[in-house]
Amino acid sequence: MIRTTAVTNAMPTTDLTDAAKAVLAANDRGGYTVPTAKLYPFQWNWDSAFVAMGFATFDIPRGYRELELLASGQWDDGMIPQIVFHAEADTYFPGPDVWKTAHKTAGRPRTSGITQPAVFGTAVRCLHDAATAAGDTMAQARTLPLFQAALRAHRWWLAARDPERTGLVAVLHNWETGSDNSPAFDAAFERVPTTTTTVIKRKDTGHVDAAMRPRDIDYQRYIHLVDTYAATGWDAGAQWQVAPFKIADVQMTAILARATEDLIALSFSLGTPEEQGELLDMHRRLIAGLQAQWRPELARFVSRDLIAKRDITTPTQAGFLPLLALDLDDYQRQRIRSELERWLDASRGALPSVPPFANAFEAKRYWRGPIWGIVNWLLVDGLARNGMHDLADSVADNVIGLIDAEGFAEYFDPVSGEGCGGDGFSWTAAVYLHLKQKR
Ligand code: DGY
Repeated sequence: MIRTTAVTNAMPTTDLTDAAKAVLAANDRGGYTVPTAKLYPFQWNWDSAFVAMGFATFDIPRGYRELELLASGQWDDGMIPQIVFHAEADTYFPGPDVWKTAHKTAGRPRTSGITQPAVFGTAVRCLHDAATAAGDTMAQARTLPLFQAALRAHRWWLAARDPERTGLVAVLHNWETGSDNSPAFDAAFERVPTTTTTVIKRKDTGHVDAAMRPRDIDYQRYIHLVDTYAATGWDAGAQWQVAPFKIADVQMTAILARATEDLIALSFSLGTPEEQGELLDMHRRLIAGLQAQWRPELARFVSRDLIAKRDITTPTQAGFLPLLALDLDDYQRQRIRSELERWLDASRGALPSVPPFANAFEAKRYWRGPIWGIVNWLLVDGLARNGMHDLADSVADNVIGLIDAEGFAEYFDPVSGEGCGGDGFSWTAAVYLHLKQKR
């Protein structure tokens, strides 16, 4: 039986809206927002896109600034990096020296060498819509360069990460997915060598309990991948050839397809007819790629290990995120709804990264079980898009309830509801502002 009321928010009078704004203010480093102090002391790509949408609820110019500073790290080939190192900080590993990207970032802030989920285009549309609704006459002028940055990034995605034109984009490093140690990647990741000449000096476990983080052996492989791609000079074509880890990922593709749809909407006022046609072609290709990954027997979508040439059937949140971009048929809607309800019932009414009934489940270890607010934001959006408004409302209420009870934790234990990982987390504050505005 699906929980249709908030689990943890017994007191409907709780309102942490001001506290959420205070979290964003505390993490402001002069126009960009760190995910949280110490653990993540730089600007992160998809974190900032969600944060910009949080700002869209109360400070539109600051939301634009967030995206402008993220775009200031964009590479000439179009990639928007996972991390932009605007300022020095010694509380995070790996810092800029490990990435060896200086030749790619001359005249710009230093960055890491990989990317992250392409929420950027959706955030640009969100800011533009908010500014237009507020009657801002500068909206067009401020959105245009961001629209163009997003278009360049989408071209990069399709050329660099789907060179065989399958309609699914691939990741070459777990950190690109944002769901780093998800069990979906275990089999593929185990094939990655653990050798590296880079000295690994983890800082994360000095800030949060090691039991909530990836293991040391995972870091050896993460850094092996960094070394391998750095040795290509971060050339996208060469990386594709040498990558020992290559996953055509439905979560990444769904986010990109949705952002492409958002750019199409913007292209009516901001793009040329050629750009609009190009975006429509991209969108058709991504939607066809996603639909091909539907597995009715599992009632969800599956990613693909491109090296082993196998579907990845491990149950994770990624299997439901195509709702964000697809208009499901009645059969898919009915199958997904009943599978989702099974997951939600086991997980305080919110989508976990791995369901508690799965073998790989670990309640507190990062992407191996916990509930993430941003994942649920995307799910709520996808459920509403597909007409499942009751479920969308109930998930939104339950996520708000978790935050009301535990504060702005990085993520939540799906069994106890406990807040875990870093605290004072920017994207959890953004989730709160966004979901509250919609309720
Ligand atoms: C980390 O360092 O934990 C991040 O997830 C990389 O983006």
